[in-house]
Amino acid sequence: MRRLALVAGLGGVVLAQSVPAEEPVGNPAEGKVAAGLCRTCHGLNGFARIPIAPHIGGEHPSYIRHQLEAFRSGAREHEIMSVVAAALTDAQIADLAAWFAIQRIRAELKPGVDPHAAPEACALCHGADGLAVLEDAPNLAGENAIYIETQLKAFRTGRRVHEIMSPIASDLTDDEIRAAADWYAAVEIEIEPPP
Ligand code: HEC
Ligand code: HEC
Repeated sequence: MRRLALVAGLGGVVLAQSVPAEEPVGNPAEGKVAAGLCRTCHGLNGFARIPIAPHIGGEHPSYIRHQLEAFRSGAREHEIMSVVAAALTDAQIADLAAWFAIQRIRAELKPGVDPHAAPEACALCHGADGLAVLEDAPNLAGENAIYIETQLKAFRTGRRVHEIMSPIASDLTDDEIRAAADWYAAVEIEIEPPP
């Protein structure tokens, strides 16, 4: 995030050269324009407007990029997103990732909720409050419980595959999935544009 702010300040060209080829640096201003395609579902800032769409504002750019590439290649499938991603170029994906990643997300547990009660097996990477502590892990804070549950079951059945999440999900019972989904869905979030 900090690096992206820096990129914007210095001008993309200079920094694009110092970043390895596999980490394309997008242009958030271009991404904002392209995000017009996403706003009915994810909102312009990545605060979702429909329950089935996840919040994507404030996710790490590499997470957003990897998911869009996965939808485009068919590695991850969804009736809406596969179609949306199929039409995106690498540059648009990088720009969209840059735009959604510079949004600032704040998460707060409901008053009186003890952070130590967070699902232990998840908090290590997704945080007790659902803000990811690992670069490639998504925020779970405030996502709809049904979305979280669906993704965990997709990892468990192999419909969605990830080297870390697939083995974790395959060990979860339905009750554990529901408990984790309810915990993170209950977190209150705000997503704001950068200053
Ligand atoms: C018509 C609604 C709709 C539109 C338009 C749409 N999305 Fe989505 N998006 C969804 C839904 C629904 C999902 C959840 C997919 C699933 O369940 O696997 C999703 C998932 C995603 C994810 C994965 C997030 C995660 O946490 O794993 C990303 C990234 C994403 N969309 C980006 C975009 C971008 C960028 C655009 C615009 C170019 C866009 N979407 C347009 C509905 C939409
Ligand atoms: C070692 C780190 C790690 C741990 C522990 C972990 N996760 Fe994950 N999680 C990830 C990563 C990395 C991804 C991104 C997967 C991908 O790119 O498809 C992810 C993705 C997810 C997603 C998909 C979210 C989305 O927006 O689509 C859900 C839901 C999830 N994890 C829930 C959990 C739950 C619940 C637990 C505890 C039972 C857990 N995770 C434990 C690293 C972790």
